[in-house]
Amino acid sequence: MVKKKILITGGAGFIGGNFIQYLICKYPAYEIYNLDLLTYAGDLGKHRAFETNDNYTFVKGDIVNRELVMTFFKKEQFDYVVHFAAESHVDRSITDPSVFVRTNVLGTQVLLEAAMQVGISKFVHVSTDEVYGELDFELSTFFTEETSLLPNSPYSASKASSDCLVRAYYKTYGLPMNITRCSNNYGPYQFPEKLIPLTISRVLKDEKIPIYGDGQNIRDWLHVFDHCTAIDLVLHEGVNGEIYNIGGHNEHTNLEVVQTIIKTLGKSEKLIKYVTDRLAHDKRYAIDPTKIERSLGWKPIYTFETGIAQTIQWYVENNTWWDQIISGQYQQYFEKQYLG
Ligand code: NAD
Ligand code: TYD
Repeated sequence: MVKKKILITGGAGFIGGNFIQYLICKYPAYEIYNLDLLTYAGDLGKHRAFETNDNYTFVKGDIVNRELVMTFFKKEQFDYVVHFAAESHVDRSITDPSVFVRTNVLGTQVLLEAAMQVGISKFVHVSTDEVYGELDFELSTFFTEETSLLPNSPYSASKASSDCLVRAYYKTYGLPMNITRCSNNYGPYQFPEKLIPLTISRVLKDEKIPIYGDGQNIRDWLHVFDHCTAIDLVLHEGVNGEIYNIGGHNEHTNLEVVQTIIKTLGKSEKLIKYVTDRLAHDKRYAIDPTKIERSLGWKPIYTFETGIAQTIQWYVENNTWWDQIISGQYQQYFEKQYLG
């Protein structure tokens, strides 16, 4: 077994957390480090099953803190970095863009500098299809890796900026890197502010589901497990400097997604409440995954139908996890557990 040191940033969040779980199972010889600030979106409850493993270390810290990051990299001499840490919610970026620039742009630059300093073997920057802007409702157009960057929200603008920095470190300094751009993720442990977990948790409590505008905006849904297998391939086999789009052709309108959840849980569509549209609400996202499928052999295992059924079931069975988060008890738990 090859022993590698891998740093996951944002590993207390939704996708980073699922990726750590995936690594623990697939690469038992890897030493896994999780650097996370534990913002409102970070929670360590998802790591309870392996938090005492010898090969897993959690460090609470801010990726913008240059001194902390540089010292950490010098000490641990990581082989790989998979960078998930970010402010990730479009609605919050509309309310307060500044923290998005701070974490997503400045934080990424600090990590790039640290990665150069220790000469890592691969830096995988986890980005989003939202950097490409929006597509028309015309279903035959897709985002490819060549699509121009045209972000519309402060969130996607900050992610596009970080993508440009990562690319510049490759071009200027030869940093071994890949950028991945995936479509909307869903699955276990997603913070209940995003459409799918928000809908499931509110339907389960018989609370109204807010749908922006007319509900006809389209998203291309990717189960988080399929995202993890794609990142694994990019990390180990991705060609340096390349960008890989990740998505599985699972396009649905927001209304269809909400209706599916309501139907599966046996509730009434009267729970739907149409609310004022999001500012600059992107019409449609849809990924062309041909490049990662052909060059790395990636294949998703979930269809939207199987993935959403599994996800709904997970939220039903794990209501204490999201209920604690919603009620804010998790913060109290953390302070008691970790800060005495
Ligand atoms: P998330 O919001 O669930 O988790 C983000 C994590 O980053 C949290 O644990 C948070 O505490 C941590 N964090 C925030 N600021 C930090 C800082 N300054 N220093 C250290 N840690 C910090 O996000 P997610 O949904 O898991 O997304 C992970 C990555 O994937 C992000 O980069 C996001 O842009 C990208 N992405 C997400 C989706 C999606 O559908 N969720 C889709 C495409 C791309
Ligand atoms: P979201 O989960 O926030 O992801 P993103 O904005 O990154 O695509 O939203 C997914 C879609 O659902 C998006 O078109 C906005 C819509 N939406 C609602 O209609 N109501 C809501 O309460 C939320 C959170 C999202």
